[in-house]
Amino acid sequence: MARIVILSDIHLSPTHGFFWDNWCVAREFANTAKADAVIVNGDLTINGPDSDFEIAFAASALGKLRTHALSLPGNHDVGDEPPGQDPDQIIDADRLARWNRSFATDRFNLDAGDWRLVGVNAQLFGSGLEREQAQDQWLDEQLRTAGRPTALFLHKPLFLERPTDDVVSPACMVPSVRTQLLDKLSRYGVRLIVSGHLHQHLDRTFGGQRHLWLPAVAFAAPQAHGGDGRCGVTVLDFSQDNVEVTIERPRGLISHDLAAIKGHGRYQFLRDMPPSPPPYAG
Ligand SMILES: [Fe+2]
Ligand SMILES: [Fe+2]
Repeated sequence: MARIVILSDIHLSPTHGFFWDNWCVAREFANTAKADAVIVNGDLTINGPDSDFEIAFAASALGKLRTHALSLPGNHDVGDEPPGQDPDQIIDADRLARWNRSFATDRFNLDAGDWRLVGVNAQLFGSGLEREQAQDQWLDEQLRTAGRPTALFLHKPLFLERPTDDVVSPACMVPSVRTQLLDKLSRYGVRLIVSGHLHQHLDRTFGGQRHLWLPAVAFAAPQAHGGDGRCGVTVLDFSQDNVEVTIERPRGLISHDLAAIKGHGRYQFLRDMPPSPPPYAG
C-alpha cells in the first residue's frame, strides 16, 4: 500500500494572497494524512511566468510540508504551450530556468508500493522546445522500465470530452500532441492519468485507461466541464492492483468564486488585481 496526497492549483503569491488561507488548510491536511508523498500538481503560483519572487515564494511555502513533496509546473508557473491562454505568457527557456532555480526539476519518477508514479511537465507538450524532446525520451524510459502498474501525473488534462476530440483549447493538450502521447501511454499499459488545471473533479475511464481530474485547492472551477467544481484535496491509496480515490474537503477550505474576486471581469487576470498580500505568509 502507498498513500499519496495531491494538492493541485494552489495559486500562491506574495502580492496576491487570496488563496493563502486555503493553502494553510490543505498544508495542515497533508501534514497529518500519513502520506508517503505529496504531489503538487501545477499552478503553484498566479504570475510565475513573469516573477522570480513568486516562484521562490511558492517554493518556500512548500518547504513547510512535512512529507516528501514532488512539484510539477503548470501554465501559471512556466507559461502555456502555444497557442496558450495568454499570448504574453508562452513557455520558454527563461521561464523554465526560473522554475529550475527554485525547484531543480520539473518531472519525477517514484516507485510507491506496487505502482510506479511518473510526473511530467505538461506545458512542454507541443512547446517545440528542446526540453520537450528530452522529456519525451525520459518518459519512454520510465514507462519501459516500470514492470508494474503505472500512473502518469501532469498539470493539464489530455482532452475535455473524449480522447478523439479535435478542438484546440488552452483547457487541455493540443490534439495532435495528445494523440501521440495517448499512443505511448497505451503501448506501455499506463492505467491512470491524473491532471489538474480545470479546478474540478471528474473520474472517467476510456478504453481501460482511467482519467482523473483533480479539484483545486485555491478556487472553484471558473468554467463548467462536467465535473464537481468545489475545492478539495485528493488522497490516492494505491494497492497491488487498484487505486482508491478520495476527495477531502477539510474544514476551512473555501471554494472561492474567481469572477467575484476579479470584480466580475473588471480585471482580466488575477495578476492585474490591486495587491493584497497574504497576512501571515510564513
Ligand atoms: Fe489553476
Ligand atoms: Fe492551469
